[in-house]
Amino acid sequence: MRLLLFGAPGVGKGTQAKLLADEFRIPHISTGDLLRTAVADGTELGKKAKVIMDVGKLVPDDVMIGLVRGVLGSPLASTGFILDGFPRTLNQARALTRMFAELRIRDYRVLNIEVSNEEIIRRLSSRLMCRNDGKIYSTETDGVAAGSPCPDCGGELYQRDDDQPATVRRRLDVYSIQTSPILKFYEDLGVELTVNGMDTVENVHRNITRLLQSAELR
Ligand code: AP5
Ligand code: MG
Repeated sequence: MRLLLFGAPGVGKGTQAKLLADEFRIPHISTGDLLRTAVADGTELGKKAKVIMDVGKLVPDDVMIGLVRGVLGSPLASTGFILDGFPRTLNQARALTRMFAELRIRDYRVLNIEVSNEEIIRRLSSRLMCRNDGKIYSTETDGVAAGSPCPDCGGELYQRDDDQPATVRRRLDVYSIQTSPILKFYEDLGVELTVNGMDTVENVHRNITRLLQSAELR
């Protein structure tokens, strides 16, 4: 299965991607996670990306396209993948179409998750991530607090720097201006599926599974 997860910041892409990756035993490739690993490792890419991510802007297309090209062309992605957070501009979408043609990938879908901005702001202000395994939690629904240990691996739970309210607002603006127009590109290609993300994690997952079944993707 080859799936692109699409949607505004905080709609639940990472949360649903992890469930699908476990269920289908395929890798979850998150461009945000790749960048956060580069930041944590202190690489040149990480240093440049951190400045951009902290203000909620997009890392330049050439950098992101090179990063994704490397991962999709590797053995890790040869039997399927869930790509989360890419493409985010029309330029990236066109580059991905070319990559798919080179890799002879024809069968893929773009899963668009829809959630209201009000709910997104609520979710992002209560999100925590594990510094060790990148698992995603909510202070509202998972009974966790910043600085407490990850229930799974014991790593430290922290709030992402870009989840400050002003940065969230900027990310939502960037999504609306630069990213949301891509949806039309994929609608025109006939590969877009939309799911309502305004439900519990479990119900959204169930509805995604049904959608994928009806699209004969599982
Ligand atoms: P990235 O890490 O991709 O961030 P994002 O797209 O802004 O999305 P998020 O990770 O914030 O949200 P999500 O949809 O994954 O939601 P989650 O599952 O965590 O990108 C970060 C930055 O990197 C970008 O701003 C940019 O600078 C750069 N970047 C990355 N890719 C790039 C690219 N292609 N080009 C250029 N730059 C790029 O859930 C959120 C919260 O809600 C959690 O607390 C979760 O527990 C909770 N939750 C989830 N589902 C539910 C539910 N159904 N009900 C209640 N709570 C829920
Ligand atoms: Mg995410």
